[in-house]
Amino acid sequence: TWTMLNIVEEQVDRIREQVGEKGRAICALSGGVDSAVAAAIVQRAIGDRLTCVYVDHGMMRKGETEQVRRDFEEVFDALDVVDAEAQFLGALEGVRDPEEKRKIIGREFIRTFEAAEVRVFGSLAPEERGDTAYLVQGTLYPDVVESGGGAGTSTIKSHHNVGGLPEDLQFELVEPLRTLFKDEVRAVGEQLGLPSTMVWRQPFPGPGLGIRIIGEVTRQRLDILREADAIAREELTRAGLDRDIWQFPVVLLADVRSVGVQGDGRTYGHPVVLRPVTSEDAMTADWARLPYDLLERISTRITNEVAEVNRVTVDITSKPPGTIEWE
Ligand code: XMP
Repeated sequence: TWTMLNIVEEQVDRIREQVGEKGRAICALSGGVDSAVAAAIVQRAIGDRLTCVYVDHGMMRKGETEQVRRDFEEVFDALDVVDAEAQFLGALEGVRDPEEKRKIIGREFIRTFEAAEVRVFGSLAPEERGDTAYLVQGTLYPDVVESGGGAGTSTIKSHHNVGGLPEDLQFELVEPLRTLFKDEVRAVGEQLGLPSTMVWRQPFPGPGLGIRIIGEVTRQRLDILREADAIAREELTRAGLDRDIWQFPVVLLADVRSVGVQGDGRTYGHPVVLRPVTSEDAMTADWARLPYDLLERISTRITNEVAEVNRVTVDITSKPPGTIEWE
């Protein structure tokens, strides 16, 4: 629409003014809509002086990194996909505590990002580089309000996707979405012609499946959860309910086993929890009343197709008192 076009044009002008003729910017793409739209606007303003970095920490969903790569390569000229699975999973070895997991994941994000920053800015001669390094963030209006309006141009807002960036990373922030709400960001994304998988992606936490495995995060457990999660998402999409559901976490109770029977054998496998929720803004949420036949298809397929899972449960807790994620 006219308004969305206006927003884009206005931001493009502002960014050109801020970054100047030579300035270079870096943007950490999470795979989500906010960082994608922010980066797309900045690219309009400064072209290939923007470098996008996407970190695959090994805890993404099935096929997700490939999807993100396909979508992003279509949109962004300079895209740096970092394979950091071994680094992240190595750092998480033996860790079971949720906050400890988040801290470690945040720290590894920073390390990966610092290395990317050196690659992008470090190799340039000072006269090519400009005096300031710019960092693009997809901060929305509700984030600004929540953090007391404090995120100025010289400080780094602790962004929950990357777990907060260290003080000594000297960046100036570029935040083209600071006045927008989520639905407006989606409208801008459509206006910019971004792929609909990007624009309509449901929120997904930065730590990824790492906080949906209750217990230690291992490659094997991630593979089990990826299969179960892929089935649930596929059936939700097939039922045409993607846009009615805010998020649909699938959680693996990796430290729990329950007895089952399959064929003529007793099994001792893991339960998974389906956690479909409806929400306006993730501050509060309600458990989604998915149709029984859909739940049945998901349950049957998961227990048939994922050998290690022999029980499927549904979480019927609203937020509050529950949170959307289990960790
Ligand atoms: P909860 O579980 O607190 O989650 O109801 C609210 C929203 O935030 C997402 N979430 C996270 N996002 N890093 C993120 O980037 C995190 O550590 C994190 N924890 C929760 C969650 O998926 C939901 O959308």
